[in-house]
Amino acid sequence: MTQLVSSLPEGVQVTYRRMRFDLEEGVPRYWHGGDPGRTHFFTALSLLFPEGEKFFIDSVRHFEDAELDPRTREEVREFAKQEAHHTYQHQLYNAAVAAQGMNLDRYQSFLRSVLRLVRKVFSHKTQLAITVALEHFTAVLANQLLTNPKLTEDMDPAVRPLWLWHAAEEIEHKAVCFDVYQQVGGTYWMRALVMARIMIGFPFVITIFQLSLLASDLKLASLKAMWRSAGFIWGREGFVRAVFPELRAYFRRDFHPWQVDNQGLIVLWAKEQQR
Ligand SMILES: [Fe+2]
Ligand SMILES: [Fe+2]
Repeated sequence: MTQLVSSLPEGVQVTYRRMRFDLEEGVPRYWHGGDPGRTHFFTALSLLFPEGEKFFIDSVRHFEDAELDPRTREEVREFAKQEAHHTYQHQLYNAAVAAQGMNLDRYQSFLRSVLRLVRKVFSHKTQLAITVALEHFTAVLANQLLTNPKLTEDMDPAVRPLWLWHAAEEIEHKAVCFDVYQQVGGTYWMRALVMARIMIGFPFVITIFQLSLLASDLKLASLKAMWRSAGFIWGREGFVRAVFPELRAYFRRDFHPWQVDNQGLIVLWAKEQQR
């Protein structure tokens, strides 16, 4: 029988925070250390959020009437508010990038069509398994952003707070969809099979988006610069290799997102806000 228990560790509370950043003022063209590749990597991620986070919210809302632990139900409400606010802020960021003359509409419409198909083809439970896998992906990336200063120290101060806030909240709500999935009887095999596909599909989409953004800028991005930023993401000490062990942990039968107890990162981030 499925256990209806929220798994949030003591001290963690999924909380909606209304934020304000200076994104309306615009962002520097290459705000990540003057590097086009790194900047476009983060823009590629940002382009996924508006459509992606709407999909996440909908996929848990399909189970609104299911029997859920009351605490999980409350967490779902806060999760949805957090994700909606992430979307709002990333739309402002995306608009600031578009204002530099980048055509971003095609990325959004591509994603909309992919997700329309996903909604049509897959069951609500599979859609939830997709969300759970992607939430793990974002939580693992968020952990990297808050623990590896190399990833954020060169970010422009106009943009850095957006990514740090988003990362802290992704960690805070990392188990919400997972708990819903467990409580509605989601199976291990569906979770693992979906993740196996996401592990290929997600980096593929990010890379295509990043390369396409770079291609729009080709005159400005030298081959050497592209090589350097490829190393930052895919190299020996790059972003992707660092997250691989945590991604692999998802395939354990007894996996749970809070087996990595990184709630201290949320506390540190919140303290930083009070300065
Ligand atoms: Fe988010
Ligand atoms: Fe999330």
